[in-house]
Amino acid sequence: MKLKQIVQATLAAASLLAFPLSGMAAEVEVLHYWTSGGEAKSAAELKKLMEAKGVSWKDFAVAGGGGENAMTALKARVIAGSAPTAAQIKGPSIQEWGKEAVLANIDVAATEGKWDASLPKVVSNVMKYKGHYVAVPVNVHRVNWLWVNPEVLKKAGATAPTNFDEFFVAADKIKKAGLIAIAHGGQPWQDATVFESVVLGVGGAAFYQKALVQLDPASLNSPTMIKAFDTLAKIKTYIDKDAAGRDWNLATAMIINGKAGMQFMGDWAKGEFSAAGKQPGKDYLCLPAPGTEKAFTFNIDSLAMFNVKGADQQKAQLTLANAVMSPEFQEVFNLNKGSIPARAGVSRAKFDSCALKSMDDMDATSKSGGLVPSFAHGMAIDSAKAGAIQDVVARFMNSSMTSQAAALALVKAAKAK
Ligand code: BGC
Repeated sequence: MKLKQIVQATLAAASLLAFPLSGMAAEVEVLHYWTSGGEAKSAAELKKLMEAKGVSWKDFAVAGGGGENAMTALKARVIAGSAPTAAQIKGPSIQEWGKEAVLANIDVAATEGKWDASLPKVVSNVMKYKGHYVAVPVNVHRVNWLWVNPEVLKKAGATAPTNFDEFFVAADKIKKAGLIAIAHGGQPWQDATVFESVVLGVGGAAFYQKALVQLDPASLNSPTMIKAFDTLAKIKTYIDKDAAGRDWNLATAMIINGKAGMQFMGDWAKGEFSAAGKQPGKDYLCLPAPGTEKAFTFNIDSLAMFNVKGADQQKAQLTLANAVMSPEFQEVFNLNKGSIPARAGVSRAKFDSCALKSMDDMDATSKSGGLVPSFAHGMAIDSAKAGAIQDVVARFMNSSMTSQAAALALVKAAKAK
């Protein structure tokens, strides 16, 4: 169901429901898809913080990497007239929900907490609908990473790659050593995650921006895009035959336990390494995806706030918003999640070398023009177009479609409504 239809259904459902307006214990219900080991540990920190503030936590966790299942569950709840207090929604989707008039204005918390002063503009813009805060950012994930097991490299006599030529040399050696070169899960959002890093590595940040953010037809169907698909086709040959449907965290586990050498994934993968007690630089390496050292694909997780009834629930919602924005929360959540704080004023002291690199690179790329929104993680374009492009990539990954046909199909997909 389109979001447009949701609001009508919501109003109809709401008129049938009697909302208890008072006497409810302060509670927040939060829809999220943080269910893997590292993710669940991170979400538990928010629950702990809310309970310490006397607000009970109703967990609405919907498993499924990338959040597609969670979005389906959210739509059903909003249609039924019982939206949760907050939901993990991000990027342009916040605007789509804003248009439906179902999001709560939380400016009062933002003004009091001086959010404008502590958030980079690239972050605060996404949290506002028509100039008013309706969402809070929990972190910034970097997507263009390659996770590597150095023991596997060593066994194979391979070295850490910095570009695609070196990447395929390493992949060949790992394969020859009888191990899996690339850990991957064959799910459309994971395919899209690899694809966007390949486009960035092959074409550079300016090309990425033109193709996957501006959706310029001449860039989508171009020799550079065809080269990106050729590279993706080659990557496919290093993925094991059991990859179909595999969850991303199971692919990360293959790196952790030395079954596979390298994985393209955002830094929520680091949450899995941390939860398994692994140390960066020693047990695993976080390298920029081949050819993307000077770029940064950002993915900002945020909690959008829904209209809730009753003074108690509204107060609990503002408590949640304030808690998420507190330096205390941004530190502990991101130490577990693998991401970096979204706000300024959080000490760097406890963060590891991967997180520090991410912080420095975000800063540098925001000045150089290398900072680009992640297409695969809902930061770049509206959900209909992103879904259609993701479908093309998934078709490419699962068939013998040519690179030329895929590039051409992107042009049509970019017009989806
Ligand atoms: C989200 C992360 C999450 C990952 C895997 C990404 O789109 O931003 O928070 O850990 O998907 O589900």
